[in-house]
Amino acid sequence: MKSKRAIRERCDELVALIEKYNHHYYTLDTPLVDDAAYDELMRELASIEEKHPELRRLDSPTSKVGDVISDGFDEVRHDPPMQSLGNVFSGDELSEFDGRIRKILGTEEIVYSVELKFDGLAVELLYDAGRFDRGSTRGNGEIGEDVTANLSSIRAIPERLGGDTVPEYLTARGEVYMTHREFERINRGRGERGEQPFANPRNAAAGSLRQINPRVTAERELSIAFYGIGKISGGPALPDQQTMFQFFKKAGLPCPENVEFGNLGRIREFYNYWVQNRHSLGYDIDGVVVKINDFAMRDKIGSTSKAPRWAVAWKFPAQEAITVLNSVDYQVGRTGVITPVGNLDPINIGGVFVKRATLHNFNEIARLDLRIGDAVKVIRAGDVIPKVLAVLAEKRTGSERPIETPEECPSCGSALSREEIYVRCVNNDCEAKLQERLRFFVSKDGLDIEFFGPDLVQRLYDAGIVQSVADILRLGAAELLAVERMGEKLSEKILASIEKRKRIPLSSLLRALGIRNVGEHVARVVAQSVGSLERLYNITADELMAINEVGPGVAESIREFFGSPENLRLIDEMLAAGLIVADEVVETRVLKGVAGKTFVFTGTLVRMSRTEAEALVEKHGGRAAGSVSKKTDYVVAGGEAGSKLEKARQLGVRVLTEDEFQKMIGGE
Ligand code: IVH
Repeated sequence: MKSKRAIRERCDELVALIEKYNHHYYTLDTPLVDDAAYDELMRELASIEEKHPELRRLDSPTSKVGDVISDGFDEVRHDPPMQSLGNVFSGDELSEFDGRIRKILGTEEIVYSVELKFDGLAVELLYDAGRFDRGSTRGNGEIGEDVTANLSSIRAIPERLGGDTVPEYLTARGEVYMTHREFERINRGRGERGEQPFANPRNAAAGSLRQINPRVTAERELSIAFYGIGKISGGPALPDQQTMFQFFKKAGLPCPENVEFGNLGRIREFYNYWVQNRHSLGYDIDGVVVKINDFAMRDKIGSTSKAPRWAVAWKFPAQEAITVLNSVDYQVGRTGVITPVGNLDPINIGGVFVKRATLHNFNEIARLDLRIGDAVKVIRAGDVIPKVLAVLAEKRTGSERPIETPEECPSCGSALSREEIYVRCVNNDCEAKLQERLRFFVSKDGLDIEFFGPDLVQRLYDAGIVQSVADILRLGAAELLAVERMGEKLSEKILASIEKRKRIPLSSLLRALGIRNVGEHVARVVAQSVGSLERLYNITADELMAINEVGPGVAESIREFFGSPENLRLIDEMLAAGLIVADEVVETRVLKGVAGKTFVFTGTLVRMSRTEAEALVEKHGGRAAGSVSKKTDYVVAGGEAGSKLEKARQLGVRVLTEDEFQKMIGGE
């Protein structure tokens, strides 16, 4: 028997490892281990925690709810209501705000906190005795929607609060937002699937949080910053905003990174700095929020029915401008989809010259009724590609010309195929497509080769050194040094990074190949199910479609890719260049009765832990959910099953005993 100390040490080691892998997987997009190895560690940790509940750490990665399906959102009443903020738009207006406050309080100088104003959506999280109990959107301020399951899938949100003094009851308030990088990743995927892109990161964040299926939320990386408290009891004394942030940090609640405390002068400096530097942040802010630091002073000053009198938002100048659309270019993507891009009369928006704006697809052009020569409203949000928001039809002179949908590929000249809302070049030898594939292959979404940007791809391509993704793996110092602006140090770093990326799990290869319809998530699902690269060579569309979450579009794209002798030759060349593709799972068996079915486990199981049972279901192509709904296929009821069993009976969902489940899964 292992000593308690050894078990505790193993437990700490597992938490640290899993956290490291999470960081690489979710934040850096560069998985260090394949999913099977990761799952194994999670299972080991869960089983230790089950046997020794006292070792379960507050921040344990097992505390994250994985997959719960809800049927809509329940209502949550906010107490006190979630108010909005008054706005000011200039330094003078801010002085007036300060003057009003000083008059009421009879004070000479006030200490304010000044924070960034995140452009996302406000949420409230209830922690009951330190445990995340319920989370909701702001809604109308009085009543919001219960999005607990979705919030649980945000990794940055702790399931349990840390720190020395855990409040009995806490409603923490903050903003859920999406980074530009994630926004663009999601919109690329939507574009490739022919779906309407999200207009901006805020809409994308809201759309992702208000998903009925939390699995969708979990696939999108949302961020959160907490900036206030609704109610607190039994916690540490919190006299002001500064102390509150210190408490949040200790508790594990992410706080705004940039905060200052001080007088009006300090606020102005902060504001001016961020007006200039907002685009370096990687996410949208639309101003700063100025709040009285001291909570007792806040109470004295009070609120109107809508907003507090002790805080105000100092908004940034608009990021929209009116300009003229002069012409349209057609860009060829790596899967051949043609994206129209508008050339604009250059215009300064928030300190940056904007000359081009994406028009997304030809449906979007029709929806906007956009014509060449039109006056258009353009929005620029951070690093996000500027976008045409609307046409000012009243400014038309009659000389505007319609935008043609091209018939031929602008790069290779071959006839384009029209596929629902998009237009595609289907020529496999198209140079533009090839170059895009190369760029994708080295990028963060591909193999993530460091110091290998699109510029270098272009230079190597133009020099005739790199013509295929296999050439990238074959690069040596001589080839790299042959291009301009390449030093020895840099070339060594690049080669080292290529070497490192030569050993990858199957899912990473699938993703990096840039197969149409196959993004990160699909790549993982497919790789886990098929297990090895060889299996993909002669897999049928039906076999692919038997995999949970794989539809005809994905199946067809994968079949098409692996059905092409040219692509197979390319993979052979990559393998010959030293690529090692690790199998995704050791054993795979998609079981007929289990694949595609949703299981909910309830009550105490005797032969295995719930986590193990859920892992078994997923291993066999099924889905394990946390709550019972009409979509549930089976509820497996162990001893002392309660409300979930009740609900299953009400909904007529099939109930299995643990033995029946065991038989179904093949006696494992
Ligand atoms: S304090 C009583 N601080 O801005 C009002 N709000 O326009 C408490 N927001 O609904 C809000 N960043 O969604 C506060 N650092 C920040 C914020 C922030 C973004 C949002 C929040 C609020 C809206 C008001």
